[in-house]
Amino acid sequence: MRISWAQLRQDIMDCESCQLHQTCNQKVTGQGDPESPLMLIGEGPGEQEDRQGLAFVGPAGQLLTKMLQAIELPRERVYICNVVKCRPPRNRQPLPEEMSACLPHLRGQVALVKPKVILLLGATAVKTVLGPDYRITRCRGQWFQLKNCHVLATYHPSALLRDESKKRDAWNDLKLVKGKLQELSVYSDLLKEDTK
Ligand code: URA
Repeated sequence: MRISWAQLRQDIMDCESCQLHQTCNQKVTGQGDPESPLMLIGEGPGEQEDRQGLAFVGPAGQLLTKMLQAIELPRERVYICNVVKCRPPRNRQPLPEEMSACLPHLRGQVALVKPKVILLLGATAVKTVLGPDYRITRCRGQWFQLKNCHVLATYHPSALLRDESKKRDAWNDLKLVKGKLQELSVYSDLLKEDTK
């Protein structure tokens, strides 16, 4: 039986499967349209996200909003979440055991949203979803198929903030996402005002 959103949120709030819950201020489940055909997966909450309880609201989040705007997608029509739901101390990368401890929550989110397209933002999301041997530098810009879902990896917006030269590749990746959504006939629905 499929888990409900209420149960999934509760499981995340109650979760003590790794040490990260001890140091974060609050859990950050994710937000956006829970029925979106497009799901974005980042690494984990940073300082602002930990303070506000929302994914991608700090500087990387602001760039992410602009990246989505570049393909005319309103951010609220997309579902956005992270591999880990608790902020790692000093924004360090989540450890492999923390990523695996949080995986049931991410799996639950994918099962509920049922996205047609997933965009992986950076190395942590790539390793979690595609496997530990995958490298962002090698696999970005290529489509993978996982069950009924098309999966693409691109650079994490924080990497783009650190290294502007990666922006051209990221822009091409976003155009691939737009093209896939168009091919699947779901892009134009995403542009319409949400009437749900
Ligand atoms: N970086 C992430 O990976 N996720 C966030 O929510 C914010 C910054």
